[in-house]
Amino acid sequence: MQTIKVNLGERSYDIVMGRGVAEAFVFGKIGADKYVIVTDSNVKKLHGEFLEQILKNCGYDVEIMDIPAGEDSKHWEMAGEVGRELARRGIDRDTVLVTFGGGVVGDIAGFVASFYKRGLRYIHIPTTLLAQVDSSIGGKTGVNIPEGKNIFGAIYQPLAVITDINFLKTLPEDEVKNGLAEVIKYAVIKDTELFEYLEKNIERRDEEFYEFIVAKSAAIKAEVVSLDERESELRKILNYGHTVGHAVEILSGHKIFHGQAVAIGMVYEAKIANKLGILSDVDLQRQNDLIKKAGLSLTYDFDIEGALKIMRTDKKNKGGQIYFVLPKQIGALKEENGKVAFPVEEEVVKNALK
Ligand SMILES: NC(=O)c1ccc[n+]([C@@H]2O[C@H](COP(=O)([O-])OP(=O)(O)OC[C@H]3O[C@@H](n4cnc5c(N)ncnc54)[C@H](O)[C@@H]3O)[C@@H](O)[C@H]2O)c1
Ligand SMILES: [Zn+2]
Repeated sequence: MQTIKVNLGERSYDIVMGRGVAEAFVFGKIGADKYVIVTDSNVKKLHGEFLEQILKNCGYDVEIMDIPAGEDSKHWEMAGEVGRELARRGIDRDTVLVTFGGGVVGDIAGFVASFYKRGLRYIHIPTTLLAQVDSSIGGKTGVNIPEGKNIFGAIYQPLAVITDINFLKTLPEDEVKNGLAEVIKYAVIKDTELFEYLEKNIERRDEEFYEFIVAKSAAIKAEVVSLDERESELRKILNYGHTVGHAVEILSGHKIFHGQAVAIGMVYEAKIANKLGILSDVDLQRQNDLIKKAGLSLTYDFDIEGALKIMRTDKKNKGGQIYFVLPKQIGALKEENGKVAFPVEEEVVKNALK
C-alpha cells in the first residue's frame, strides 16, 4: 500500500493505493458513521455488494444507489435526479458520499456532492484505469450540456481517493486501452522512466504492471494539481494530445473513445512539434511506436476545416490563436518563462493534419 498526497492546504488529501486497499483501508480515518455509495449499473453488479459489505463490516450505516452506465448519463437532469434521491432518502451532511466507478460516476456524483446541502463530504473509489490515473485526482467535477464541455461543473476536492487496482481485473480491454493512452501521455510529458517501462511492458495486464503505472501516473497528476489546482498555467500540460483529440472525438460523433482520440491527438500534436523543429524525428517515432504497441490507432482521416473550427474553441486559446502543449523530447515539454502552451500558425496545424 502506498500513499500519494495532493497538497492543497487545508483541502489536502491522500490517494491511498495498492492491491486490496479497499478492503484494508481504515474508513475510520474519515470519521463518519454513514456512507452513501453512488455507482453505475455495471459496477454495482460486479463490485457493489463487495464494497457495501466492507463498510457494513466496519459497523457503518450504508446505502447504495446507481445510475445507468455510460457517458449518456452524465447530464444535468441526472445530477438533479441523484441529488433528489439523496434528499428523498434523507441524506444529511454527516453522511459521506462515495463515488464508486469510472470517470462518469466520479464526475457526476462529485458534482452532486459539491451542491447537495451546500457541499457534502465525499471520497472517490475509482474502478477504471482512466479514473485511477486521471479523473479521480484534482477535484474537477461536472456534467455535459448540449452547449459545450466544461460549462456546468465545480472544482470540489474529495476527502480521500481509494485506488484499488484489484477492481481493474474485471475491466474490458477497450477500457484498459482508454486508460493506457492517458498513461502514455504522462510518460511523454513528464516521465522518461515510465516511458521506458511502458516500452518494455505495455502488453502486460498483471497486478504488478497496473500498480507501477497507476502509482507513477497518479503521482504526476497529484503533483501538477497541487501546484496549479485551477489550471492557470501548469495544469495545461495534462492537456497534451487533447487539443486535436477533442476534435477527433467530436468529428467522429463520439464513436472514437476518449483515450483513442487522445492517442491520435498525441500523434498529430507531436508531429506539429516536430515540424516546428522542437521534437526530434527519433522521439516522434518512439512515441508513435509505443502508441501502436498499446494497440491504439495512430491516424484519423480529418475534415481539416472541421477540425480547425473545433480547435479554435479550445479553452487554452488566446487572441484568436490556437494554443498547443508541445513535447521537446520523451519526458519533457517545451516550457518558457513559466508558460507551457504556445500559439501555432494554422498553416502548420493544417499541414500536420494532412
Ligand atoms: N474530472 C476529471 O478530471 C476527468 C478527467 C478525465 C476524464 N473525465 C471524465 O471521465 C469520463 C470517462 O471515464 P471512464 O473512462 O472511466 O468511463 P466510464 O465511467 O463510463 O467507465 C467506462 C465503462 O467501464 C465500466 N466499468 C467501470 N469500472 C469497471 C470495472 N472495474 N470492471 C468492469 N467495468 C467497469 C463502466 O460501467 C462503463 O461502462 C468522461 O466523462 C470524462 O469526461 C474526467
Ligand atoms: Zn483525457
